[in-house]
Amino acid sequence: MCGIMGYLGPKDAVEVVLGGLECLEYRGYDSAGIALAEGRKIGISKCVGSVANLKAQLEKNPLSGKLGIGHTRWATHGGVTRENAHPHVDADGKVVLIHNGIIENFHELGEEFSKKGARFASETDTEIVAFLISSLYEDDPLLAIREACARLRGSFAFVILFANISDRYYCVRKGPPLVLGTAEGEAFCASDVTALLPYTRNILFMEDDEIAELSAEGVALYGFDGTPKETRTQTVDWDASMTSKGMYPHFMLKEIEEQGSILRRTLTGRVGGAGEEGIDLGKEFPFSEEDARKFRRIHLVACGTSCHAAAVAGRLADKFADMDVRVEAASEYRYGNVICDAHTLAIFVSQSGETADTLAAARQARARGARCLAVTNAVNSSLAREVGSVLELRAGPEIGVAATKTFIGQLAALTLLVLWLGKRKGNLDREKELRLTEELARLPLKLEKILGQGESLRKMAERHKDAFGFLFIGRGASHAIGMEGALKLKEISYVHAEAHAAGEMKHGPIAILDVRLPVVAVVPKDDLYEKTLSNIQEARARSAPIIAIASEGDEDIRRFSDDCFFIPRTENELTPFLTVVPLQLFAYHLASLLGKEIDRPRNLAKSVTVE
Ligand code: G6P
Repeated sequence: MCGIMGYLGPKDAVEVVLGGLECLEYRGYDSAGIALAEGRKIGISKCVGSVANLKAQLEKNPLSGKLGIGHTRWATHGGVTRENAHPHVDADGKVVLIHNGIIENFHELGEEFSKKGARFASETDTEIVAFLISSLYEDDPLLAIREACARLRGSFAFVILFANISDRYYCVRKGPPLVLGTAEGEAFCASDVTALLPYTRNILFMEDDEIAELSAEGVALYGFDGTPKETRTQTVDWDASMTSKGMYPHFMLKEIEEQGSILRRTLTGRVGGAGEEGIDLGKEFPFSEEDARKFRRIHLVACGTSCHAAAVAGRLADKFADMDVRVEAASEYRYGNVICDAHTLAIFVSQSGETADTLAAARQARARGARCLAVTNAVNSSLAREVGSVLELRAGPEIGVAATKTFIGQLAALTLLVLWLGKRKGNLDREKELRLTEELARLPLKLEKILGQGESLRKMAERHKDAFGFLFIGRGASHAIGMEGALKLKEISYVHAEAHAAGEMKHGPIAILDVRLPVVAVVPKDDLYEKTLSNIQEARARSAPIIAIASEGDEDIRRFSDDCFFIPRTENELTPFLTVVPLQLFAYHLASLLGKEIDRPRNLAKSVTVE
């Protein structure tokens, strides 16, 4: 969480840093702040709220400079106040610093400094680090930073300015992501590559336990022990247009509408090649046919929306993979007594590849001997490095906090993976494989047909915008889609929504039903259709309005529901690709009608790098 941006070069650093922070606001927007090196002085401006507030403040009291660092905060230690906003500075004004992460021993260090008479201006775990570095600094910034790092416990990405140095600044990474960018005479840093794309595509992904010195000459990289390291700059193939809203009012809508093309991209080259194979996961895929036959367990581990994609894949694996399937939230899995061995395939799903719990879960599975794979949109992420093997989503940068297009990418990648395993396990015959892969190739068009009906979903949202809450039901993979639909609604509209397996409704949730609480039933025409239909009738008998997400041609459902949305017919196993889209659009329109901040929902951050 928290967004970090730094710049040194001939441009106006205020403009570059503020532009970067706007791009990184999805990481937190409790407060914002900036520090500018102006000769031997450092000017600081910070405020509660968004980067827009900071901009307004800077218009009244401008700062300028060629070297600047900025921060947008998602509060952990200390409330949302101006004092707790970053940058933080030591008492002598020698060291100015911004931080993403958590310093676990800040209290202990704070007491040590308090005994020596230090007075802190904030309640954060960050301010002490400025004091610590300052106390160790004589004339060698690198040495002071290294010595300070040796005393810190926890996770941190720092960007540091020294008041007497205006031609260099420093970055440190141990845990939270930090990427560096270079261009002629310019040196950038940011929490995420998207903030750098308007300026450069020459990127260096910092690794843990590294310190970087950034100057107009470029980047010098060191280990925590002071050893110089080779700079590993690479050219990324994302471009700035991918991070702009274009003509859309919100990133979320843009990203929902991109889903047809994301699906095509994720499938390209992996499905329907000219060769014998229906599914070809390419050379980067680390498992051989023999490995696949030996796997006995499959673990699918993730957080949030990614966990819902994992749950859909889990249902598919039940059917095709012939293994013990365990789907679990990473925050639970990492603390469980999970049995892993060389016959366990552990799959970690994360769009960002930076979620702290997913990373910790992967570390644990690896230590226990599981064969691990990351399914992620970020091939240079911490998760990708931890696990070593990556199945890439190819969804391009996702900016909206509520994940949408990466969910479709995850469904596609995981479906291919499970079908590939199913084939090796002898549970997917050639005919079924072809039926499914041919249908996968048709899905983007079907998905785009749904996207063309956005207006009818807007009207549906209009009819239900005053509801007291929503109960989502479904069975099998449609239950997972119900969970995703409820999550989307909660995240961006703040309306209460809960999801249950349809058969579980009568064991409690049915008690809350009444005319003000619509039931959203995910009820495609599949093997479990009739069972879910019975549950719909139970809900209807309690006066709950029914919103059905059903299959085209299902005329019966009209009789049992107040509102229907029909998805194109598809193979039973593939309905999640289509049922989720109307639920994303329903959530989007409802939140929009309620006037919510769709791309920056309160209290949330896109990438949760704290536990
Ligand atoms: C946060 C985001 C969610 C996301 C989850 C997991 O909670 O707000 O949208 O699904 O993290 O993120 P990951 O990057 O691991 O998929």
